[in-house]
Amino acid sequence: MNTIDWSTVGFSTLAVHGGQDPDPAHGSLATPIYQTSTFCFDTREDGTAIFLGEKPGFAYSRGGNPTVRALETKIALLEGGEECIATASGMGAISSVLLTLLSSGDHVVMGNCVYGCTNVVIQEVLPKFGITMTAVDTNDLAAVEAAIQDNTKILYFETVSNPMTRVADIEALSALAKAHGVKVIVDSTFAPTPLVRPLALGADIVVHSATKYLNGHGDVIAGLIVGKKEDLGPIRTYGSTKACGSTLSPHDAFLVLRGLQTLGLRMDRHCSNAMKVAQFLETCPQIQTVLYPGLESHPDHDIAAKQFKKDMFTGILSFEMKDGINGMTSLEAGTRMVNALTIPHIAVSLGDPSSLVEHPATMTHRNVPPQERVRMGISNGLIRFSVGLEDPEDLIADLQQALATLD
Ligand SMILES: Cc1ncc(COP(=O)(O)O)c(C=O)c1O
Repeated sequence: MNTIDWSTVGFSTLAVHGGQDPDPAHGSLATPIYQTSTFCFDTREDGTAIFLGEKPGFAYSRGGNPTVRALETKIALLEGGEECIATASGMGAISSVLLTLLSSGDHVVMGNCVYGCTNVVIQEVLPKFGITMTAVDTNDLAAVEAAIQDNTKILYFETVSNPMTRVADIEALSALAKAHGVKVIVDSTFAPTPLVRPLALGADIVVHSATKYLNGHGDVIAGLIVGKKEDLGPIRTYGSTKACGSTLSPHDAFLVLRGLQTLGLRMDRHCSNAMKVAQFLETCPQIQTVLYPGLESHPDHDIAAKQFKKDMFTGILSFEMKDGINGMTSLEAGTRMVNALTIPHIAVSLGDPSSLVEHPATMTHRNVPPQERVRMGISNGLIRFSVGLEDPEDLIADLQQALATLD
């Protein structure tokens, strides 16, 4: 069979074909689900050679599986990384990276607005192992530099922060970290390729909750780690799959592979829908602030316009209701409005075909201490909206009728 030269093809060709040759056993076009725990060896010598890595092959699905490997190969191509590890969840990816690369006595500088469970891992789990941290505003480069200590090993942040949608300047932060010998770990869940490739901008490792846009159908929990072989080797051996067992199942890998084939089309639609919804919400008198990087009013619009693919600013926005509408607090107004929606479901997660709304203060970020939440800007009136693939006119009409219930 002729082979594709990956270095010459575009994003969508990679998304469809990357890592997925027809199966050598029977020519199956769809990558088969190798639903097996173990693999048989022809001989003892063969098995030993596979275990020692002297011969290609698989031994046991906790450490490697052909369906999972196809997903890892596709993601490495899409992200422009040397290597990829698929994990059982986004948190599996994040904790594996941190627990492998850090040791007792090390220090982490983290973005001060990240997903709630990431906050728990860095601020509550890592200290149990003698690892300290400083949380800073990663949009303030001077503050980041001031937070770096002699024992700082990692700078960790999200490309687009959850839920405040602040956009990090990956290139500037990576250059700063490199000058201090600090590794940069970026969670790019909110802004997957084709929006941005953090490795090309200088990040050392990119992590994803593939549960979200990469799978894109709301039916899988999965994570991904991409970067250089020298960094990912120890993570695979000690931190994630082989020793600690945050392994993605072959069936879930198959679903993510299938979802990835339409990633480009889906991201186009998520982003253009989100832009229309954000522009509409900005005109609504009941709403105090709309946070969407595509809007010129967003504090990081210029960084987003420079860093992201043209006209693609993620599919997620957050907005804050006004206090005092008909005597209601912003929490009461937001609750009434969200409960009146008919198309978006009230649910956490994001990047699904269905629009989803959630209340960060009591849902995704409930485990962040209240004073931390205030510092992050997560007020009680803040609503996060993952804009789905529906017709944008229907979403806007639904928002209009839900806002009218506040009159
Ligand atoms: C930005 C971000 N990173 C990581 C995660 C964790 O991913 P998972 O739920 O797949 O463990 C989430 C989950 O919402 C997230 O929003």
